[in-house]
Amino acid sequence: MLDLVPLTDTIGTEVRGVDVTGPIPARDLDRIYQAWIDTTILLFRGQRMTQEQHVAFTRRFGEVVSYTRPEFNEDTSPDILVLSNIARDGRLIGSPVSGRVWHSDGHYLPDPPAGSMLYAIEVPPEGGDTSFTNMIAAYEALSARTRSAIEDLRVVISRVQSRPYNYPDRPPVTEAERASWPDVTHPLVRTHEVSGRRALYCGGNVPWRIEGLPPERSAPLITFVQEFAVRPVFTYRHRWRAGDIVLWDNRSAMHRASWYDGERYHRHMHRTTIAGGVPAVVGAARATTGAA
Ligand code: OGA
Ligand code: MN
Repeated sequence: MLDLVPLTDTIGTEVRGVDVTGPIPARDLDRIYQAWIDTTILLFRGQRMTQEQHVAFTRRFGEVVSYTRPEFNEDTSPDILVLSNIARDGRLIGSPVSGRVWHSDGHYLPDPPAGSMLYAIEVPPEGGDTSFTNMIAAYEALSARTRSAIEDLRVVISRVQSRPYNYPDRPPVTEAERASWPDVTHPLVRTHEVSGRRALYCGGNVPWRIEGLPPERSAPLITFVQEFAVRPVFTYRHRWRAGDIVLWDNRSAMHRASWYDGERYHRHMHRTTIAGGVPAVVGAARATTGAA
């Protein structure tokens, strides 16, 4: 029997009573999909999926895409991105570090992915939690005055600018990378394509520039919005067990990985990604769409 249990008062739903590899009645699938849209993340526990089953289950929520780190996609199933600190024959089999700052996946793309589904295969006994924040709840908690002050703003997202924040361990950006990573602009407030509700779309750690504002106005405003978005009341911290699946909605949630002792423990996860579209805000005074 399908059972939908809130993770907290503001974010997330645990889906119980479902084997994600089996047939799921259409009526149940509709309720699961709606819970994803309404609460921004879903948790399924005690699951066992092959790579093919993982991809097939992801398709229930949208079209599957792959946009990052192709060197860490599974050879046998290129839609699966491996996050792992395990090495075989002296080579890492996956990306050992994943998003340790607040972010929404692919924010730097013109058409960022709608969702991501992470499946835990082996997890450390401590550390390596993933935190999530509900950006719809955060937007709705802002004062009406602040909501209207920010609804028209656009943010310049630069993959080059974000690199040292996201990956302090990697070498500096090369000229070739710089040339192939043009900046994009996205609305600071976005309208969810399915629910029509508005969410903050601010990123969490990089001091992004707000288009058209001088630095002395842009910097404190983006910092305020970013700090507001991750107030503990909007967040849920997931302590992983092997067999967990978390599906998050990149249009309405941010997430952040946390440290674990990689010398001592393995952390091995598989991720799939769901195609999205160009973020837009509907109904703002001077709404624009598309990347500049
Ligand atoms: C990701 C990501 C977080 C984690 O896969 O996009 O940010 O805890 N992962 O591994
Ligand atoms: Mn991520």
